[in-house]
Amino acid sequence: MSTLKLAVIVGSARRESINRRLAQALIGLAGTRAAADIIRIDDLPLFNQDLEAERPAAVERFAQAMRSADAVLIVTPEHNRSIPALLKNAIDWGSRPKAHSVWAGKVVAITGASPGAIGTALAQQHLRQILGTLGSVVPGGESYISFKPDLIDANDHINDEGSRVRLQAFVDGFLDLAERLHPASA
Ligand code: FNR
Repeated sequence: MSTLKLAVIVGSARRESINRRLAQALIGLAGTRAAADIIRIDDLPLFNQDLEAERPAAVERFAQAMRSADAVLIVTPEHNRSIPALLKNAIDWGSRPKAHSVWAGKVVAITGASPGAIGTALAQQHLRQILGTLGSVVPGGESYISFKPDLIDANDHINDEGSRVRLQAFVDGFLDLAERLHPASA
């Protein structure tokens, strides 16, 4: 038996990203059920089909990290009511070549935080649609985080109990599904 290998993607490269803080808190909630790595996407070149003949090293590293993961967690901001270009760029690179897409058949949980009231709901709807097209298995549970400055402390602990309970259920549901689809890692 081995631990579930979890690739975590944060849709923001901002130094003080609230989504990176949320991702780290969620990794904490996964505990020993998952070996999680945040996979960087900010070094990927802007997608251009001309680059596909000789794929840049950063793209190969990204694709390899994604292929070797049992499951993926995407934690993303909302930009102009959709997903950030940074994240779309990574998704597009991962989708190519189509026969070797890193997204097909992969369990991909999605969540995100914004200071606004709807907590990335519209970005997540777009992301769900994109991943569905690519053949990913996106768990049903929805998780929209309206971020307040004191929600997560310096030790990645979620201070608000209601939020912590909801996010623990979100993480548990996602890992239950990923383990069912990857019994060797349960
Ligand atoms: C935003 N922000 C934002 N927030 C939101 O709730 N809905 C939106 O559509 C947008 N649109 C948007 C566009 C652009 C270009 C920027 C830079 C920002 C605000 C956003 O939620 C806020 O900057 C978060 O802090 C971004 O998350 P990170 O980068 O801190 O993880």
